Amino acid sequence: MRALVTGAAGFIGTNFVRQTLARKREGIDRLVALDLLTYAGNYANLTGLESDPRFRFVRGDVADRDRVAALVAEEAIDVIVHCAAETHVDRSIVDGAPFLVTNVHGTLALLEAVRGRPGFRCFLHVSTDEVYGSVAEGRSTESAPLRPSSPYAASKAAADGFVFAYAATYGVPAVITRCSNNYGPYQFPEKLIPLFVTNALDGESLPLYGDGMNVRDWLHVEDHAEALWHVLGLRAAPGEVFNISAENEMPNRALTEQILRLLDRPANLVRYVADRPGHDRRYALDPGKLRATGWRPQVSFADGLARTVAWYRERRAWWEAIKSGTYRDYYDRMYSGRLAGSSAAPREPGV
Ligand code: NAD
Ligand code: TYD
Repeated sequence: MRALVTGAAGFIGTNFVRQTLARKREGIDRLVALDLLTYAGNYANLTGLESDPRFRFVRGDVADRDRVAALVAEEAIDVIVHCAAETHVDRSIVDGAPFLVTNVHGTLALLEAVRGRPGFRCFLHVSTDEVYGSVAEGRSTESAPLRPSSPYAASKAAADGFVFAYAATYGVPAVITRCSNNYGPYQFPEKLIPLFVTNALDGESLPLYGDGMNVRDWLHVEDHAEALWHVLGLRAAPGEVFNISAENEMPNRALTEQILRLLDRPANLVRYVADRPGHDRRYALDPGKLRATGWRPQVSFADGLARTVAWYRERRAWWEAIKSGTYRDYYDRMYSGRLAGSSAAPREPGV
């Protein structure tokens, strides 16, 4: 197998690549990591892998059609695991344009590169539970309608649409996975868990949106990486979708309390701030289809969160390097106004 992993220097890409090479997965002859190294990509995440003869890193844009087509041909790629994306909902609310370019044009460029390619085995498109929108009751199955609420989710749903279209129209062997919120090492500290852990370590405020009762469904990134390999081994039909979830739902407020407990930090670090516009109240995936094929998550949330918190505690140099420079401007832009108007007590729902 000659695999191309896009977004390999980001959170999920890094964990997927590291896990793949460390476990010496049989059948991996080549692993080409393609990443533009945007603000979210960090080449240092891949340190140490250069000595593996199967590994090659290429800095490039997934939306650059010629570059992508040339790379796929030159490396005789037969499997793509497509993780590259603009991923942060709050940034998409400020400006959706980069999300359209990377998430939609980028996915299209990759699909074009493999269309009609002899011997090509699988294009695995890593999508998200956010395409289903907020789930009031029950759990989203793979056939639930797509109702994206944020520009980020809209761009991922549009990309899913192109994957379906290329499977149906050209028979591209493409599958879609939709996972829930991931957590674990190497996550950029703009997302809830690494942001709150690193802020708490520095004695800074933890800005909880709205009433803090929005529910997310947490999946350890190691379980996610294993699930991706499991799906690659399934011989799924072109255009098939698989939800990936450990069925571990939790309100943000309860999660924040667990983080503070693990770090032995006071509850008064929590500040309730103005809500995210269009904030989905609850995500909940039904992973029954994948489970029926034998996949099971292995990491309990208590253990996974404790290990994750310990990782950030021990890797201060990793996140301090990120949380300086342009990150500070981002943080001030996103949070200083909100924190100035924050309160110590929960807000009313949706406020
Ligand atoms: P991330 O933001 O940590 O990493 C994204 C990576 O993509 C970065 O390394 C970045 O440099 C790279 N990238 C961005 N634009 C690029 C471009 N134009 N060309 C090449 N590389 C580019 O994201 P992540 O959390 O690792 O997410 C990976 C995938 O998983 C995304 O498709 C995301 O939508 C999906 N997903 C993530 C989660 C989660 O909880 N993290 C949940 C559901 C789905
Ligand atoms: P996030 O990590 O941005 O992931 P997503 O929006 O893709 O689910 O946010 C997870 C949850 O945490 C979401 O309900 C929004 C909330 N949140 C806060 O309350 N405060 C914050 O500063 C951030 C970044 C998120």
